[in-house]
Amino acid sequence: MKKNYVLITGASSGLGLEFAQLAASKKYNLVLIARRKKELARISETLSLQHTIKVHTIVKDLSITSSAQEIFEEVSEKLNLEIDILINNAGFGTNGEFHLNNFNTELDQIKVNVLSLVALTRLFITGMIERNNGIVLNVASTAAYQPGPYMSVYYATKTFVKNFTLGLNYELRGTNVKVTLFSPGPTRTEFQKRANMKESIIANEMLMMDAQKAAKIGFEGALKGKKEIIPGFMNKLGVLAVKLMHESVITHIVSKVNKNRINK
Ligand SMILES: NC(=O)c1ccc[n+]([C@@H]2O[C@H](COP(=O)([O-])OP(=O)(O)OC[C@H]3O[C@@H](n4cnc5c(N)ncnc54)[C@H](OP(=O)(O)O)[C@@H]3O)[C@@H](O)[C@H]2O)c1
Repeated sequence: MKKNYVLITGASSGLGLEFAQLAASKKYNLVLIARRKKELARISETLSLQHTIKVHTIVKDLSITSSAQEIFEEVSEKLNLEIDILINNAGFGTNGEFHLNNFNTELDQIKVNVLSLVALTRLFITGMIERNNGIVLNVASTAAYQPGPYMSVYYATKTFVKNFTLGLNYELRGTNVKVTLFSPGPTRTEFQKRANMKESIIANEMLMMDAQKAAKIGFEGALKGKKEIIPGFMNKLGVLAVKLMHESVITHIVSKVNKNRINK
């Protein structure tokens, strides 16, 4: 029997780890990508034993432009695997005033959130199109739907992911290759800590979604071939409100929210 493989970037924590657990529970075999070797090894051992599946791990830094090609070669040539579901999940955010932020980190953010996502999609979707079978699940954010002062680069990367994914979805309509946009709102993961954002604001904690719940909505929606998924009523409502508001108004509101989140 053919073994179905899911490749997940950013599988060492947060939403990526939840996607890995969900896919494993459905008996998919896995290829897990991240930089933290020990975390990946621990996750691989647990999931392969718990679910009797195959789990391959590839330690790669997706801020390095050649990583996507190296991953593709390792998966296709060395491991000789076909990927049925690609989950482009790896990503991080920076916050603060753009001109004061570390410029190399801003560029790395574009490389991880955008460049590697586009490259991996291009590399793996070709085989999916040839087989007329496959799913690409791209993780954007509710941040994709408006400009985000004080997280300007992050919001812009997610807007890119949104428009790229919806464009690709359209190109492949009528085929059996499904391309899904997944846009979670604030979710309890390592993201906020890594972005150096305040975590302890009670209102924020209350608004945050559980990562397992968000990932389940995203993964199951992608399996159903959905075009666009925003998990949770509040996140859906937020995106709807953004669409109804004038851009200058929403930009001002977001600037206030993001400024309050900056750790000084
Ligand atoms: N949490 C939220 O509130 C939220 C909301 C909307 C969208 N998102 C999006 O959800 C996705 C997952 O984030 P998360 O919330 O689960 O945060 P997280 O817990 O920090 O997970 C991020 C994952 O990305 C990986 N990653 C980061 N930089 C990388 C690099 N240079 N090379 C390879 N892997 C890298 C990390 O692995 P290593 O550190 O081991 O490399 C980790 O596995 C991101 O795209 C994020 O933008 C998050």
